[in-house]
Amino acid sequence: MYTEKVMEHFRNPRNVGEIEDADGVGEVGNAKCGDIMKIYLKIENGIIEDVKFKTFGCGSAIASSSMATELIKGKSIEEAMELTNKAVAEALDGLPAVKMHCSVLAEQAVKSALLDYSKKNNIVIEGLEDFNPDEDHHH
Ligand code: FES
Repeated sequence: MYTEKVMEHFRNPRNVGEIEDADGVGEVGNAKCGDIMKIYLKIENGIIEDVKFKTFGCGSAIASSSMATELIKGKSIEEAMELTNKAVAEALDGLPAVKMHCSVLAEQAVKSALLDYSKKNNIVIEGLEDFNPDEDHHH
């Protein structure tokens, strides 16, 4: 049911933890399964210098957050904005259909942390104008 990559990231997740003086923090949850994901970003000169996550949720949610942090670490804000749930799922060699929403949570957590960063720094990040993490997004 799960790919080797999902299992590997689930057993051995990257970038677990929190960043004390994070520049942006995002927390999202899925009302149906009750899983919660929190992402911390350290941003310098528009680059994501560090990223950590805490996920209280299923194995796919943990694997998705682990992969999402790997995909945005060292990237620019613009590149991080382009991270889709599909890209996360693809990087994991796929997720079962009933687990696709776990990767949606990862995309939303990243965007939510970027939104927090943009608000704290009074900047506009293109693509976040209509982002509302409290809405149930379907991709
Ligand atoms: Fe809901 Fe995985 S079952 S995030």
